[in-house]
Amino acid sequence: MQPSTFLSESQLAEYSKNGFLVLPNFIQPEMVDKLRNEAKAIVANFNPENVSIFSTKSQEKKSDAYFLKSGGNISCFFEEDAFDASGTLRVEKSLAINKIGHALHDLNPQFNKVSYTQKLQQIMHDLGFSSPMIVQSQYIFKQPKIGGLVNPHMDAVFLYTNPISCTGIWIAMEDATIQNGCLHAIPGSHKEYPLTRRFIRNDTISTSFEKLAEKEDAWDLNRLVPLEVKKGDMIILHGKCVHLSYENSSENSRHAYVLHLIDGKYEWDQKNWLQRDTSFPFTTIGNVLANS
Ligand code: FE2
Repeated sequence: MQPSTFLSESQLAEYSKNGFLVLPNFIQPEMVDKLRNEAKAIVANFNPENVSIFSTKSQEKKSDAYFLKSGGNISCFFEEDAFDASGTLRVEKSLAINKIGHALHDLNPQFNKVSYTQKLQQIMHDLGFSSPMIVQSQYIFKQPKIGGLVNPHMDAVFLYTNPISCTGIWIAMEDATIQNGCLHAIPGSHKEYPLTRRFIRNDTISTSFEKLAEKEDAWDLNRLVPLEVKKGDMIILHGKCVHLSYENSSENSRHAYVLHLIDGKYEWDQKNWLQRDTSFPFTTIGNVLANS
């Protein structure tokens, strides 16, 4: 085993036991503010007419196509309850966006700078990755009052490698509390429960879940613990760790910047919903750092 270069032995043991680990002060508050401003500017420049949000069949297809393309661009997604029955925004646009995704880390210079760092490369090496590769990035708003419930799930369902290597890097853009909808996770769930399904792209306009096991998920949600963190803190989340976040019914938003990595030594599965054009491949952190 390689010697640890960033995480201590006790941090590694904690991560291995729980499937998550909080690293305080991962990025400086000044940098967090820059990212928040950048996200604000992206939303300000976003034209809602470019995305379908209505629930008729053909509109669903359009919105799935928009989602499936977003692996290689910077797209904005609305909260489910953002529009009324006539299709009019209930709140102003800046408060109606659920998230921005999924290639911020490659296409936006400010997000690029905080994503491809030696520190993150070291952390991933400490966790056993040989070629850490960021496959997606999301800026999540969890808006005040309308930020919805995110159901319990494992991230590896959505970003599959064999063996599983999907790992989340969740960075708080402001304090995340029980009141504003912080993450909750089941300690040890990454070891206890199997991956029972995966989310796949059927074609360029539709997705579905493929079964990996006959059993239904039977997670003990009574064991969820809240992961309250401060602005700039980071949570490493194992791809099989069961987690959720509840509605944000508070007056405060709960912004987070979230990266997902895989080990590039494993093949990127062609069934994954997230695909890039051959002209825009995923890159390992090492390659980006070597070329910068
Ligand atoms: Fe997740």
